[in-house]
Amino acid sequence: MKPTVNPTVEQLVERSNRLGADPKNTNYAGGNTSAKGTETDPVTGEDVELLWVKGSGGDLGTLTPGGLAVLRLDRMRALVDVYPGVDREDEMVAAFDYCLHGKGGAAPSIDTAMHGLVDAAHVDHLHPDSGIAIATSADGEELTRTIFGDQVVWVPWRRPGFQLGLDIAEIKEKNPQARGCILGGHGITAWGDTSEEAEANSLWLIDTAAAYIAEHTRAEPFGPALEGYAALPEAERRAKAAALAPTIRGIASADRPMVGHFTDAGVVLEFLGHAEHPRLGELGTSCPDHFLRTKVKPLVLDLPASASVEESIARLQELAVSYREDYQGYYDRNATPDSPAIRGKDPLIVLVPGVGMFSFGKDKQTARVAGEFYVNAINVMRGAEGLSSYAPIDESEKFRIEYWALEEAKLQRMPKPKPLATRVALVTGAASGIGLATAKKLASEGACVVIADLSLEKARAAAAEIGSADVAVGVQVDVSDGAAVEAALEATVLAFGGVDLVVNNAGLSLSRSLLETTEQDWDLQHDVMAKGSFLVAKAAAKAMIEQGMGGDIVYISSKNSIFAGPNNVAYGAAKADQAHQVRLLAAELGEHGIKVNGVNPDGVVQGSGIFASGWGANRAAVYGVEEQDLGKFYAQRTILKREVLPDNIANAVFVLCTDQLSHTTGLHIPVDAGVAAAFLR
Ligand SMILES: NC(=O)c1ccc[n+]([C@@H]2O[C@H](COP(=O)([O-])OP(=O)(O)OC[C@H]3O[C@@H](n4cnc5c(N)ncnc54)[C@H](O)[C@@H]3O)[C@@H](O)[C@H]2O)c1
Ligand SMILES: [Zn+2]
Repeated sequence: MKPTVNPTVEQLVERSNRLGADPKNTNYAGGNTSAKGTETDPVTGEDVELLWVKGSGGDLGTLTPGGLAVLRLDRMRALVDVYPGVDREDEMVAAFDYCLHGKGGAAPSIDTAMHGLVDAAHVDHLHPDSGIAIATSADGEELTRTIFGDQVVWVPWRRPGFQLGLDIAEIKEKNPQARGCILGGHGITAWGDTSEEAEANSLWLIDTAAAYIAEHTRAEPFGPALEGYAALPEAERRAKAAALAPTIRGIASADRPMVGHFTDAGVVLEFLGHAEHPRLGELGTSCPDHFLRTKVKPLVLDLPASASVEESIARLQELAVSYREDYQGYYDRNATPDSPAIRGKDPLIVLVPGVGMFSFGKDKQTARVAGEFYVNAINVMRGAEGLSSYAPIDESEKFRIEYWALEEAKLQRMPKPKPLATRVALVTGAASGIGLATAKKLASEGACVVIADLSLEKARAAAAEIGSADVAVGVQVDVSDGAAVEAALEATVLAFGGVDLVVNNAGLSLSRSLLETTEQDWDLQHDVMAKGSFLVAKAAAKAMIEQGMGGDIVYISSKNSIFAGPNNVAYGAAKADQAHQVRLLAAELGEHGIKVNGVNPDGVVQGSGIFASGWGANRAAVYGVEEQDLGKFYAQRTILKREVLPDNIANAVFVLCTDQLSHTTGLHIPVDAGVAAAFLR
């Protein structure tokens, strides 16, 4: 039997995790590492020479043995003899499949040739900001010599692939003293005879470049400070960011809906506060990893920090039009008859001086990582401009990568998105009961969810139960307080770029007869449910209209909005108010593509805080049953004789928001297992 994990693999994974854990070494999911070693071939019983190399996708920091591609070295090396030349180098990727050992592990990436062909037992290919700064300096070759002498060799830009692997292999052979190389426009590759040596060489190269930049950089690499472009004070810039977010998300989503991420990191604000940022922004990013996620260049608002929200919105709309024209131009200039179709002309990075950066992607993680990559790119530009001048690769080369057949194939292999992918949901009262079940359902169907509830702690706990901050966040809100609702909307658009789906669920229930119902009882029921959902709908609709992406507002109303029973005047009247808001708003918001619908639950005992906090005991007393049997009692009253669970309500909300009900607005769906007295007519 084979040992479970080959020690070479163990070392490789540990080295990769160490390198990937420090963002100075490489961008998220960027770069790859490899090791060569032997294992017993189960077929022959003989030793077989293998290459383990990080496969396509995944991050070095969290790499596991399962993320490695495993290839036979003899076969990999034999590829050199059938290599048809640089024009057909892409064919070699398919040929890697014929070199796999056993099941081959993860899919080999485009960088596999570099690792396999370089004659070193351990190879690291990384994208450190410091290394790319040298790689994108106009005189990068000279700088490499100055900084590293003959220890590091300059490799002119070449698109990753088999030929780049051959180039680096040759360089290593001709420069036996070298510890690694700088890949023009792209990154670094370092090697060693042992895993320790490779890691030490990688770190030495990265740190030496960083130290050289720190010591030799000119004072203001981004030029002098720009009057009026400095960062706004924190509260002001976050308020402005929130006010602009829906418009900016709409711009980024003209071709396809996107989730957004916002950062006001110092690095970004400093970049935007200096004179050279428009020129540098226009030059775009250089490392393939960077521009695949950030698009070739960002959209930069050319107004000072003091510009009003209205002025900024008007200008952003103009810039969006020119960005799209510009991108179309880039496509038309570079596309060949066999290029894949244009993939959308909207920016993925939008920069607002004094405020920060909005980044976009098909989900929150992708959006966040796009922002991280632009921060990497800013660091690269600072380094390059500090020493020399920033000279990214040509746009034709960027195009060749962005619209590479292999890249297109990767995109085609992506799993079909979930039904609510890219949609940002705000669910009020979502720390408990029906709201929590709804938030979970929406998240499981691909939505990003904001859990808004009275207690921040409970809202956060509920969000954490659902997933990371890329999936769900918790915010505090009292929906009966207009300012608090505005703040919750701000938090929502800053968390995910905008809002598409609002569930007015927050509620409570006081079961009292008319004579027992106090004025305060009446006000509380109406403040939380009638006024609260009005306030939430109003704030959300404003953002939805600015986004121009349609939207869904769902009210969790009640059977009691239709059905009249005793001891329910304040609650039932407030529910009827909510139910009519559905119709009123459906009529009013339809022109913006916003659908407004309601769900009428009844008798949801399980998980309900309302039932647990007295209402259940009260109802049980009214009906003369034990409190714990209330769910079953309600079930027996229904036509279907089934107990209604929070998930049943959640499913109804989900269906209302999918494409399946794209033409339905102003509807209430009863989810009550059938109560004839509450039938809608
Ligand atoms: N449980 C049922 O049988 C039933 C039936 C019909 C309608 N509903 C409605 O469904 C909704 C959810 O009820 P549930 O049974 O899940 O109750 P629940 O008590 O479990 O959840 C309600 C949540 O709303 C929150 N909330 C209360 N006041 C708030 C405020 N001012 N601001 C923000 N959040 C606030 C609470 O903290 C709680 O987390 C309510 O609107 C309720 O009227 C419930
Ligand atoms: Zn690379």
